[in-house]
Amino acid sequence: MPRVLSGIQPTADSFHLGNYLGALRNWVSMQDTHDCFYMVVDLHAITVPTDPEVLRSRTRASYAQLLALGIDPELSTLFVQSQVPEHAELGWVMQCLTGFGEASRMTQFKDKSSREGAESASVGLFTYPILQAADILVYRADEVPVGEDQRQHLELTRDLAQRFNGRFGETLVVPKAHIVKDTARVVDLQDPTSKMSKSTPTGCVFLLDEPKVIEKKIKRAVTDSVGEVRHDPEGQPGVANLLSVIAALSDRSVEDVTAEFAGGGYGPLKTAAADCVVAFAQPFAARVAELLADPAELDRVMDAGSQRARMAAAPTVADVYGKVGLRRPV
Ligand code: TYM
Repeated sequence: MPRVLSGIQPTADSFHLGNYLGALRNWVSMQDTHDCFYMVVDLHAITVPTDPEVLRSRTRASYAQLLALGIDPELSTLFVQSQVPEHAELGWVMQCLTGFGEASRMTQFKDKSSREGAESASVGLFTYPILQAADILVYRADEVPVGEDQRQHLELTRDLAQRFNGRFGETLVVPKAHIVKDTARVVDLQDPTSKMSKSTPTGCVFLLDEPKVIEKKIKRAVTDSVGEVRHDPEGQPGVANLLSVIAALSDRSVEDVTAEFAGGGYGPLKTAAADCVVAFAQPFAARVAELLADPAELDRVMDAGSQRARMAAAPTVADVYGKVGLRRPV
C-alpha cells in the first residue's frame, strides 16, 4: 500500500472546519487504501511563544479529536511528533541542505512574521518548513493529504528529497501533495477572500463550538449582492464556500447542491449549511469528551502510536546519516 503522512498543529482548543474539510476528512478516508502515519505536530507549535500547560492540554485534545474523527490507531500510526526524535535529527540534515534564499521565499514565514515583526520572530518559525519536510521524508511517504496552503511546503519537500538523492544516491521518496479541489481552501465566513483560520474566530467555525455559536457564525456569513445562488468561487466566494461545505458534509457533488438551492435566496442556504455542520459537530463533541475523560487510556494509545512511528522513522535516519558520513549510535 502506498504510504501517507500528514500532521496538524495543536495550536487551538479545537480543530476548525477548514482543517476538517481541507485535510482531516481525507486522512480518515485514506486509511483503507494506504499505510497511514498521522501526527500532532507539537514541535511546530513552539515556533511561536506557547504556554507549556496550554500546549500539553492542546496536544492531548488534538490527539483525542483525531480519534473522534475516525482515525483508527490500529489501522493507522497515530502519534505525537516530539515523541519521535528522528524528526529533529533528519530536520538538521535537511536544514544543512536548504539554501538561505530558498527558505526566505516561504510565504508562510513572511505572513506570520510580518504580523509580529520579523526581528522578533524565532529562527524556528523561519526553518519551520524544513522540519515539515523532514516529517514527511523520514517516513518515506508517497502522498501527503493537506489543504492548498501547504502546497509550497510540499514543493520544498520534493526539492530537498531530489537534492539529497542527487547528491548522495537514491535514499528518499519524493512525495506528492494530495489536495482535494473543492475543499482545498475553505474561506473565512467574514472575509471570503481569506482562508478560514483560527486567528480570526468570528469567521472560523470550530468543530467544538456550541451548536448555537455555529448557527450564529454561519447565519452571519458574508455573501454578496448578486442575490442568486450560483457556484462561482471567483465572483461569489462566500456563497461557493457554503455550497462546498454542504456538499462535503452531506457527501454530494457541488453541482447537485447548487442545483437544489439555485433560485432560492441566501437564507435557506445558510440554514442548510448550519444544519449540516451542527449534525456533524454534536456527536463529534460528545466523542471527544468521552475520550478526554480517560486520560490514562489516551496516554497509552498515544505512547503506543509514537513507539510504532519510531520503528518506521529510525531506519531512514540511519540510512541518511550513513550516506552523509555521520555515525548514528546503534
Ligand atoms: P495546520 O495545523 O495549519 O492545518 C492542518 C491542516 O488543515 C489544512 N487547512 C485548511 N484546508 C482548507 N481550508 C482551510 N481554511 C484550511 N486551514 C487549514 C492545512 O492545509 C493542513 O493540511 N504545516 C502544517 C502541519 C504539518 C504538516 C507536516 C502537514 C507539520 N508537518 C507534515 C503535512 C505533513 C500546518 O501548519 O497545518
